[in-house]
Amino acid sequence: MGRTMKGIRVIAISAALMLSAASLHAQQAPQEPPPEAAVDWDKEFGVTEKTRDPVTGELPVDPYVQSNANAGAAPFKGDGMARAFGGKDGIRRIAQSTVARSEADPRIKAIFEKHDMGRLRRTLFEQFCYILNAGCDYTGRAMPPSHKGLGTTRADLNALVENLQAAMRENRVPFAAQNRFLAKLAPMDRHVTERGEKRLLPRR
Ligand code: HEM
Repeated sequence: MGRTMKGIRVIAISAALMLSAASLHAQQAPQEPPPEAAVDWDKEFGVTEKTRDPVTGELPVDPYVQSNANAGAAPFKGDGMARAFGGKDGIRRIAQSTVARSEADPRIKAIFEKHDMGRLRRTLFEQFCYILNAGCDYTGRAMPPSHKGLGTTRADLNALVENLQAAMRENRVPFAAQNRFLAKLAPMDRHVTERGEKRLLPRR
């Protein structure tokens, strides 16, 4: 009997030891971090993904009223300026070259990053074509809302104008016609730049 009792006690003690070892093991098991909840930050902040137009490849913009008045200048009369610029084809080359030069220009290229350059190539062409009276309508936005918040300075505008001048020279636009066109664009300066030369954030 004594032996049996001793045996039972041994079994009980070893069972208790096994239990406490198991619970110790359970306590020491590395805690798995809770699975990271997949947060849809775009949804959280109300950001909707923009989809490019399948035909033009352009990104949608907020609705606005289309009007030639958005071009910011009245067109020239007659067809003299359109011819001096080589008609629609010449104007397209000049607008595209102006954009390409500006995108590659270390002075201002950062301003164009993350913008829809396909749209800019199209609308700048339309604007030039409309102002030069070469038979286009301007379908883009007005200058103030298009440039609001870009932080462009007078120096940036000068750089862009130099690029336009180079594009006009490259396409053999007579010097007098170049100057007449620049004089049309000049009054837009206060709509495409922000006051002062200082930016809130330094550009990379
Ligand atoms: C007289 C001078 C200028 C003219 C005629 C002009 C013309 C235009 C036009 C037609 C658009 C497109 C509007 C639209 O998308 O509906 C535009 C947009 C834009 N312009 Fe200008 N611009 C001028 C000066 C500048 C300068 C100096 C800079 C910077 C160096 C600049 C940077 C931009 C940028 C980044 C956009 C795209 C804005 C966006 O994506 O919302 N522009 N500009």
